[in-house]
Amino acid sequence: MFIISRFKSRFLRKMSCFSQVINPITGENTWQEREDDYDYHQEVANAGFGDMLHDWERNQKYFAALRKTIGEMRSAGREVHVLDIGTGTGILSMMALEAGADTVTACEAFLPMANCAAKILEANGAGDKVRLIRKRSTEILIGEDMPRKANLLVAELLDTELIGEGAISIYNHAHDELLTEDALCIPARARCYAQVAQTPLAAQWNSLKTLPNLDGEALLRPPEQLKACQGEAALHDVQLSQLPPSSFRPLTDPVEIFQFDFQRKAPREKQREQLLRLQSKQPGAAEVVFYWWDIHLDDGGDILLSCAPYWAHPDIKELASKGKDLPLANVVPWRDHWMQAIYYIPKPLQLLEAGQAFHLSCHHDEYSLWFDARAEKPAKAVRRHTCSCDLHMTYSRSRIGQMNQSPRNKRYLRYLEESLEAGQSRVLVLGNGCLLGLASSALGAASVKLHEPHRFSRRLLESIVKHNELKNVQFVDKLEEVEASQLASLTHIFAEPYFLNAILPWDNFYFGSLLLKIKDKLSSGVKISPCSARIYALPVEFLDLHKIRAPIGSCEGFDLRLFDEMVERSAEQAVSLVEAQPLWEYPCRALAPPQQVLSVDFSKFSEEMHLKGSIELKHPGSCNGVALWVDWQLTDDGSPRSIVSSGPSEPVTPGEFVQWDMFVRQGVHFPRTTKEAISSLDWSTDFRPLLGELNFSFKPKKP
Ligand SMILES: C[S@@+](CC[C@H](N)C(=O)[O-])C[C@H]1O[C@@H](n2cnc3c(N)ncnc32)[C@H](O)[C@@H]1O
Repeated sequence: MFIISRFKSRFLRKMSCFSQVINPITGENTWQEREDDYDYHQEVANAGFGDMLHDWERNQKYFAALRKTIGEMRSAGREVHVLDIGTGTGILSMMALEAGADTVTACEAFLPMANCAAKILEANGAGDKVRLIRKRSTEILIGEDMPRKANLLVAELLDTELIGEGAISIYNHAHDELLTEDALCIPARARCYAQVAQTPLAAQWNSLKTLPNLDGEALLRPPEQLKACQGEAALHDVQLSQLPPSSFRPLTDPVEIFQFDFQRKAPREKQREQLLRLQSKQPGAAEVVFYWWDIHLDDGGDILLSCAPYWAHPDIKELASKGKDLPLANVVPWRDHWMQAIYYIPKPLQLLEAGQAFHLSCHHDEYSLWFDARAEKPAKAVRRHTCSCDLHMTYSRSRIGQMNQSPRNKRYLRYLEESLEAGQSRVLVLGNGCLLGLASSALGAASVKLHEPHRFSRRLLESIVKHNELKNVQFVDKLEEVEASQLASLTHIFAEPYFLNAILPWDNFYFGSLLLKIKDKLSSGVKISPCSARIYALPVEFLDLHKIRAPIGSCEGFDLRLFDEMVERSAEQAVSLVEAQPLWEYPCRALAPPQQVLSVDFSKFSEEMHLKGSIELKHPGSCNGVALWVDWQLTDDGSPRSIVSSGPSEPVTPGEFVQWDMFVRQGVHFPRTTKEAISSLDWSTDFRPLLGELNFSFKPKKP
């Protein structure tokens, strides 16, 4: 989606400036020289325009609705004057023109995009036929910017939540000021759906569970304030179809909760609530609401586009028979610009038997939705809830899930149980929200120092220390403040490692940078865990994810290469060669076994490394991505049980779909696509730890 809020008109003046950036690996503030249009390039490159224009179903259905509506208006003897709000590349305006509109006015608020639209319209022979207004629609004046009101509005201003990009106000203003009394709109209407479900997997992303020891006895219990917290109401947008079927139990069928009539002349309400009395299909805890929407593009309701997950998709039978070689979850049209959402119910409601009735209250304001489920009908409107316990406001959903991730926690706890000596060990824990480090206190360590400079994370851990009556824990703000004698007496240094500034898995190498600060003061026998880390690369064939960076070329017969060029120019300046993505949401097949591309020993962290190699592809396919992740080695005993991986959760077999850890984002590099087959991938890694630089390059090689 295009984001206009941070648009700066200064992008046209090309100057460079220095801006302060925290290097996640060194933790240092560094000054980076950047062209002062850097923000603009980031905006353009990361806006995901490509994905939207690769959404063939969206494009085809908008075009079909324009043809149908304009055809019907003309048959009825009406002139057709189209307004395209948020024209982007100008695509919908060009469609309207080709469908026979008398006049087309396009407006675009994001100036670089509007300038690009002007060039695209020109290149497609529509430069003098579409009136382009470089303004927000709410600033348009009839008589000044447009000679007359429009009688057909086409716009694509929707997001995963439907209304998150401000559609309610934009439509209200358009009907008040810019559209005739009898104006039609494409899309004409939207319907929003909710399905109540129990899902221990998603619940794990929303609340902190008790941390058990290896025998299953409680080691750390969450304090009352965490149990009482209602969590954040904000949506959790996910590719819902990719949730493993075994990870959730639907408690209701999908139900329609709101309708938005974009054509209605009366204003669309900025706030609404809907109370539904539902019956559970089976016993379970109402923990979450799955949410999606569909749109009728035309007034007659013939052209429907649904964002439903596969199990609720209206065309699933037809799609499944057409896409026999795809997993069922992937037969529905793919898009990343509109996903589905999970909303967490503030207090899960236990439904003890099938048929039990309960009340689902659904709310929206101008930009967002929230939900609640209760046994009794609520007496008054349920207010949007927010985090009151520090957990949700400090940590991402994937990190909260990771804190609860049992197989992973067990590996760390096994190490701690085997390595700590009760009443003897003195542990320094590095990392944010390191509950496992805190567990070393519950496991009997003589003293535990937690380096936790983050205010809210520290407050959270302090409450856990208090609730669990841990006596020997001390918090440390700055490592420099720890006395040399205390550092010398440490027996263990422990990390997961996890740091709040980390985006890519190896950003957590900050652990190594912290170690360097204290290395000379440590005793020679101190045990450091993890002792090393290995980065692996895996060439893959994505079913869809590569589209977010793939050029469009032509879309429904319109030439959008000028748009591709604009995105490419921005991507060169603003997009890093490896980006973080939660790969469990984006199926891909492995094309080779994973290969190690870097190994870092934390006791020698300052060593620079420059490595090269080649990965031979073992399975035919188009190598449209390289996945990268870190395996943390807790000890050097060589046991697979001492490895905690942020990559695949099952062994990788070339030619098969990769199962990814669902609680971290992996790194992805999108190679320049080539139509020719490649036989191998040459790679090189450059690691300069003291500068915090870790760069990869991948070059496809032809047979
Ligand atoms: C999702 S894109 C759609 C682009 C294009 N219509 C398409 O379908 O490919 C939405 C565009 O609307 C623009 N936009 C959002 N609100 C707007 C407004 N009120 N007036 C003008 N442009 C707006 C954004 O800058 C963005 O370029």
